Amino acid sequence: MRKYIVAGNWKMNTTVPEGVALAKEVAAKAKDLPANVELVVAPPFTHLSAVAEALKGSKVGLSAQNCADHEKGAYTGEVAVSMLTSVGCQYTILGHSERRQYYGETDEKLVVKTRLALEAGLKVILCVGENLDEREAGKHFAVVTEQTKNVLYNFTAEDLKKVVIAYEPVWAIGTGKTATAAQAEEIHACIRSVIAEKFGAEAADEMTILYGGSCKPSNAKELFAEKDIDGGLIGGAALKADDFIAIAASF
Ligand code: PGA
Repeated sequence: MRKYIVAGNWKMNTTVPEGVALAKEVAAKAKDLPANVELVVAPPFTHLSAVAEALKGSKVGLSAQNCADHEKGAYTGEVAVSMLTSVGCQYTILGHSERRQYYGETDEKLVVKTRLALEAGLKVILCVGENLDEREAGKHFAVVTEQTKNVLYNFTAEDLKKVVIAYEPVWAIGTGKTATAAQAEEIHACIRSVIAEKFGAEAADEMTILYGGSCKPSNAKELFAEKDIDGGLIGGAALKADDFIAIAASF
């Protein structure tokens, strides 16, 4: 059974008290959502402990936005997977385009991070997506196929049960420009076929594939109605509890 997930990527927004208040509001409003939709929030590292506390007893899951590519040691400024699990994280986002673009995140590094996360018992939300130049050059299928293969083909079908893929066209992130449902669906279907090619039809069918990029209450319903779109990774709209919940209620 494929799982539907709506995850909120808070990026570098909110102070700790603001984040706790947002988490509490999301947790309270999540009560009325259908049971087949999982909600997850991904606050900054500094917020994780306090947000975990605020989410206690709710159905809302907790995710980090990144993790270190080493287990522990002299890596100033980095946060290890064991630290994330110790504060109650169940997920980490990996490979977000902002990390690929601004912090030199490579597919090779993502293989290491994914392995560390899975070994620590964290589930991974792996982001893939083409930028505007790649889309305009007609390379979007190739880019997304390559990113997916470069990371996930190093794992097993069993590992993939703990992985969620988020397709986020870079040109749609924070721009207000959403991919149309048809544009998103054809990439999601492509990603699913890339998974099927190596891991079989069952693994592909069970893979949760999220759409991200200016997803909001007004377009979520149309996107989520597509057969290969299993939810969203939400940036800006996840900072308002009502919008975030309205997106999750769009299933
Ligand atoms: P956006 O961000 O919803 O603000 O476009 C999505 C993301 O980057 O995960």
